[in-house]
Amino acid sequence: MRVIVAEDYSAQCREAADIVEKLVRENPQCHLGLATGSSPVGMYQELARRCKEEGLDFSRVTSVNLDEYTGLEPSHDQSYRYFMDSNLFDHINIDKNNTYVAKGTGNLEENLKEFNAKLNEKDTDLQVLGVGADGHVGFNEPGDKLYASAHSEVLDESTIDANARFFASRDDVPRGAVTMGMAGIMRSGCLLLIISGSNKEDAATQLLMTDEVTSKCPVTFLKIHRNAIVIITKELADKIGYKG
Ligand code: GLP
Repeated sequence: MRVIVAEDYSAQCREAADIVEKLVRENPQCHLGLATGSSPVGMYQELARRCKEEGLDFSRVTSVNLDEYTGLEPSHDQSYRYFMDSNLFDHINIDKNNTYVAKGTGNLEENLKEFNAKLNEKDTDLQVLGVGADGHVGFNEPGDKLYASAHSEVLDESTIDANARFFASRDDVPRGAVTMGMAGIMRSGCLLLIISGSNKEDAATQLLMTDEVTSKCPVTFLKIHRNAIVIITKELADKIGYKG
């Protein structure tokens, strides 16, 4: 793993945007794996600015997203399709027909079949990742085992707590999600993890301060990827005692 310690959140987002920009300029037809959550929002804003002001061209880029809540229509303002449109796709020149966010409503089995077919078409060149407070990536929640293929997950209580801030009440947070499995993530050419915030101390400690790779903390699987980049804020690095 390559670890970059960034001065603060904006520096972290610029570093992450630099990595995505380099890929898009070198390979204008690249296939991006994208993530939701608050962590990548600043990077998406920076990419949108570079697209508008510096001609960063997404017209031939394709994408697939990590996950989607079950039970939310794409038009729901907390669905991950809505998140991607409003935080990124509406602000860059990507063809939305070339962006894929799994469906969270309708026939779950059919949705997963479609999602897995999409993932098997081609591997992503880069996968953007955030991490849950409990160490989840996408919605691969910690447990005795993880799953390789796209599948549905029951969300941990801690994940529901963490995501409740985006909903009118905790009761409104969906209890399940469909998510890319660990194989879809690990097959990417490059994993780009953005990690900050005090609730990420445990996950960051497991990732950077131990040698363990464990389903009890899915983000630790980044340690066995040949091209994983972790961008952490100095504040969080200091908190966990990470010295580089
Ligand atoms: C959700 C998403 C994850 C994301 C996590 C952390 O559960 N499914 O992909 O990494 O939240 O979110 P945040 O970046 O807001 O802390």
